Amino acid sequence: MTANATQRAEQLRAELAEHNYRYHVLDDPSIPDAEYDALLRELIALETAHPELQTEDSPTQRVGASGSRDFAEVEHEIPMLSLDNAFDDVSASDDTGRFAAIADFVRRITTRLGLAEPEFSVEPKLDGLAISLAYEQGVFVRGATRGDGTKGEDVTANLRTIKTIPLRLRGSGWPQRLEVRGEVYMPRAAFEAYNAKARDSGEKTLANPRNGAAGSLRQKDPQETAKRPLAFYAYAVYLPATPEQNLGERHSAALAQLREWGFPVSPEVDTARGLAGLVAYYRRIGERRDGLPYDIDGVVYKLDDYAGQRQMGFVSRAPRWAIAHKFPAQEQSTELLGIDIQIGRTGAATPVARLKPVQVAGVTVSNVTLHNADQISRLDVRIGDSVIVRRAGDVIPEIVKIVPERRPEGAVPWQFPTACPVCGSALERVQKIKKQTKSETIYEDSVAWVCSGGLFCPAQRKESLFHFAARRAMDIEGLGGEIIDDMVELPFLRCGEDAHSLRSPADLYLLQLDDLVELRRLSQERSGNVPETVKKGKVATRWAENLLEAIAKSRATTLERFLFALGIRDVGESTAKALARWFGNLDAVMAASLDELRAIPDVGPVVAGRISAFFAEAHNREVIAALRAAGVHWPDAPPQRIAEGALAGKTVVLTGTLEALSRDEAKERLESLGAKVSGSVSKKTDFVVAGPGAGSKLEKAAELGIEVWDEARLLAFLAEQLP
Ligand code: IVH
Repeated sequence: MTANATQRAEQLRAELAEHNYRYHVLDDPSIPDAEYDALLRELIALETAHPELQTEDSPTQRVGASGSRDFAEVEHEIPMLSLDNAFDDVSASDDTGRFAAIADFVRRITTRLGLAEPEFSVEPKLDGLAISLAYEQGVFVRGATRGDGTKGEDVTANLRTIKTIPLRLRGSGWPQRLEVRGEVYMPRAAFEAYNAKARDSGEKTLANPRNGAAGSLRQKDPQETAKRPLAFYAYAVYLPATPEQNLGERHSAALAQLREWGFPVSPEVDTARGLAGLVAYYRRIGERRDGLPYDIDGVVYKLDDYAGQRQMGFVSRAPRWAIAHKFPAQEQSTELLGIDIQIGRTGAATPVARLKPVQVAGVTVSNVTLHNADQISRLDVRIGDSVIVRRAGDVIPEIVKIVPERRPEGAVPWQFPTACPVCGSALERVQKIKKQTKSETIYEDSVAWVCSGGLFCPAQRKESLFHFAARRAMDIEGLGGEIIDDMVELPFLRCGEDAHSLRSPADLYLLQLDDLVELRRLSQERSGNVPETVKKGKVATRWAENLLEAIAKSRATTLERFLFALGIRDVGESTAKALARWFGNLDAVMAASLDELRAIPDVGPVVAGRISAFFAEAHNREVIAALRAAGVHWPDAPPQRIAEGALAGKTVVLTGTLEALSRDEAKERLESLGAKVSGSVSKKTDFVVAGPGAGSKLEKAAELGIEVWDEARLLAFLAEQLP
């Protein structure tokens, strides 16, 4: 034996003791189960090879850690044991190699009992908390956690809150005293709901449903436990008065009996024969794993015949007649190598964790989205951290927590970058608006970051071009999604030696016929269609000519269309229109200060900020200059600064026939002064504009004593408001 082995054993014992404490006492494990199991297996292997290394306090010598001291102690009349775990050998090339551990288990039984194909009770291995329930004269009297297997904690009051645990047995024929064991678990839906709520109220979230179950059972106040929807499945039964005797001959029959008495038993429980039967069950449940409403981490095989179980007996911490066949772990730990920023089509910046590649539930994971800055600060992940990655079924892999004990020295909190990694433009902090009124704006708690390089940023190029060309923007007919995809992806523009793709909407106005023909050719080449015939060439030319004409036509536009086409976040058509009217020309819009922007009716502080940030970005100004240089133009107009709110907050009703103005014109003019034009007269109406033929609305106005204007008065009023 080497000094190394001694040292390693000591180290493993210390680490395992710490993890045991965190798992059992604090309900807050810092490493995934798979890793704990690996450490334990390493220690078992070491102690088996060098028995002199085994100490009395070795974690291999007991079932679990002692409980926390907050609950009364209960001594288990019949010890609560654990199960040996069998893992698949994923490196094996065939099933024989892969399931060698299970084959060994079956062989030990067939050899010792002299049976050809033993029958097993096969059960899902629920990932919750083992519980023992005592019944006297058919009444639930006490419930306890496993604790160290000999002594557990009295959690009777909390268990009573679990609706599926019978407080009184049903039917008849039950023994005087009965001890039922099973798993308390938190259904997945309840777990998700709990975490969503905890996140909302800023409370600590549960790492997984098992911690949820454990934590809930440890509540001091049963009312708290009752709030967390826990469930229970029974998987074993004992007769404490005569522990050498069983409830019948077979475990499967005993479970059926428990069902009769009112205990929930998993509907997945079944029986199977021999190795082939076990493997078939393992596969069947494995396929259904992600669809089950609760987490399982494997299946359990138990020799069904009680007499056979007695013959097999126990080794220190587990029965020889049962084994847990574990599924590949859904949680693994690995190292966070870095955090990259991805820019989406709309400019949203998403942080993505780059991980040291790790196998999780059979798939290599090396990138995991971190969603947003909030998640990063919630997890407090730092570069170099050990992180726990979870991948369950179809759910995308996620980082559930970090391992604080393994944080490298000097790791600093991660800061969101200030510039877009794609185009270098400033990243802007955007808080979604939850509710907005005239006087206040309420934001969502979460903060998103977006690239302010709208027109310039390659990541956003497709989206911004699509918006730019839209009918209500620059209205370039025939410039749609697929062509834009091609233009952004294919190097169709010749530029000296190099060729490149479209870099900004300004490039559109520099296109030549040859460029578009080349674009068409590259596109067909990529999609596999060969553009060989003359006829096709002609079609391509006609298409190119039409598109060029549409582009040329769009040069003559209006300021409001142009402003809308720029795709400034939250600047829709009506804001673009308001800006165009208010300033009359683009230079004034671009030069406007935040305060000036905020003075415009309909432009709130948030939108003012967006506009200001957009024009502050040098890249955006360059694209605008290039567009103008390429001949995009519009008529300037004198600023129309209508006195703010001349009719702000007023409600006006139009009725009868107007002569000088159409109904729509009148409505538009009134609205531009801040009025709300309503269809019916009520107490809230400020005045009614009535023309000839007015009827019931006029009567109603008279009835309510509301002011009535004729068209002449309206026209005079409107004239006064013009600058
Ligand atoms: S039987 C003597 N059956 O797994 C055998 N255990 O690692 C006692 N578990 O503490 C356990 N599902 O928390 C058994 N169908 C099942 C189980 C199951 C989950 C848990 C239980 C136990 C642990 C053993």
